[in-house]
Amino acid sequence: MNKIVEKRLLALLNRRKAQKAFRRLEDSSHLIDFCSNDYLSLARSSELQKSIEEQSLNQPLGATGSRLLSGHYNLLDTLEEKLAQFHQAEAALVFNAGYNANLGIISAIARRSDLILHDEFIHASIHDGIRLSAATSQSFGHNNIAELETLLIKNSQKTIFVLVESIYSMDGDAAPLRSIQKLCQKHDANLIVDEAHSTGIYGKNGAGLCVELGIEKTIFARIHTFGKAIGTHGAAVLGSQILKDYLINYARPLIYTTALSPHTTQSSLAAYQLLEKKGALYIQELRERIAYFQASICKQTKYTYIKSASPIQCLIVPGNEAVTQLSALLQKEGYDVRPIRTPTVPAGKERIRICLHRHNSFKEIEQLIQLINK
Ligand SMILES: Cc1ncc(COP(=O)(O)O)c(C=O)c1O
Repeated sequence: MNKIVEKRLLALLNRRKAQKAFRRLEDSSHLIDFCSNDYLSLARSSELQKSIEEQSLNQPLGATGSRLLSGHYNLLDTLEEKLAQFHQAEAALVFNAGYNANLGIISAIARRSDLILHDEFIHASIHDGIRLSAATSQSFGHNNIAELETLLIKNSQKTIFVLVESIYSMDGDAAPLRSIQKLCQKHDANLIVDEAHSTGIYGKNGAGLCVELGIEKTIFARIHTFGKAIGTHGAAVLGSQILKDYLINYARPLIYTTALSPHTTQSSLAAYQLLEKKGALYIQELRERIAYFQASICKQTKYTYIKSASPIQCLIVPGNEAVTQLSALLQKEGYDVRPIRTPTVPAGKERIRICLHRHNSFKEIEQLIQLINK
C-alpha cells in the first residue's frame, strides 16, 4: 500500500476510534440472541434443516454462472412461482440478497429525467441504488405524508418513484403505507416498498404488510428478503411480469453476478413451504413475546422507549460512549444487544436495538429488561 493511502486509511480509522464508533467483527453465537434478524427462529429450526437436507441431496454445489448464462436452473423458477403465489403478485424475480435487489431495481428503473422521493430513514441499500441511478432524488421527513404530498404536487410533470420501507430497520416503526399508497395513486407515482422487516411477520402466513393492508396489487414493486424472518439468504422483487422481464434485461446486479447456489434456493423454498404450514402459529408466538416486552418495558424503563409493534424495539441512550457502555454491560451478562451509534443515527439519538424472536423465552426478556434498568 502506498504511504499516502495508508496514512489516509489510518486517519479515518482513528477518527472512528475517537468517536467510539470503531466497528469490529465478532462471533456472538454464545450469547442469548437479542440481535439477529431471525425473528421466527427459522435459521435455527431443526425441522427446516431436515427438510432442506432431504431435498438438497445430489444437487450441484454451485450455480456455476450468472442467471443469464449457466446459472439458471428449474428450482429458481419453482421458487419464483412459490414467491409470486405466497406474496400475491403477478411475478417474482430472485436476487442474491436484498442489497442486490434494491441496487438492481432502483438503478435500472429510474431515468435521468425521473424523480425519486424517499423517506429520510430508508436503508443504505436503497441509498446506494439511488446513487447508481441517473435520476435526481429528494428525501421527505420520516413518515411525513404532508411533505410527500407537497413534493408530489410540485413535481407533477415528472415520472416519480416513491421509496419507503414497510417496517423501518432502525426503529421498528411502520410506514403509514395505506396513506402513502393512496397519495401515489392520486398523483400517479410508482411506489416501491422494501418489506425486508415485514416479510414473514405481517400478512397471511407472513406475506407482508402490503398484503395485510390489501394494497399489494397497486404497488409498483415490493422487495422481500430471505435473510431475516425467512432464515436463509437472498431476496426477490415482486411485481408485474413486464417489470420482471425488464429487470432480467437491465438490472446489472442480477446480470453480472453468479446466481444463488441450488442449496440456498432449496432452503428458501423449504422455508416458505414451512411458513405455509406453520406461519400463523409462529407469528402468534412472536407476537406474544413482543406484547410481553412492551408491557414490561412501559412499566419500568428509565430510557425513552420508541414505540413499535414489530420485533425491533429501541431505547434511546444518548451518546456513543453511554450506549456502548450499556450494551457492553449487557453482553458481559450474556445478552447480545447492540448499540446503534452516530453516524448510523443522528447524535443524541443513539440507542440500544433489541430484536425479539420466537426463541426468546419470557424469562430471558424479563431478565434483560431488569438489567437495562438497573
Ligand atoms: C430495509 C432493508 N432492506 C434491505 C436490506 C438488505 O437485505 P440483505 O441482507 O438480504 O442484503 C436490509 C438488511 O439489512 C434491510 O434492513
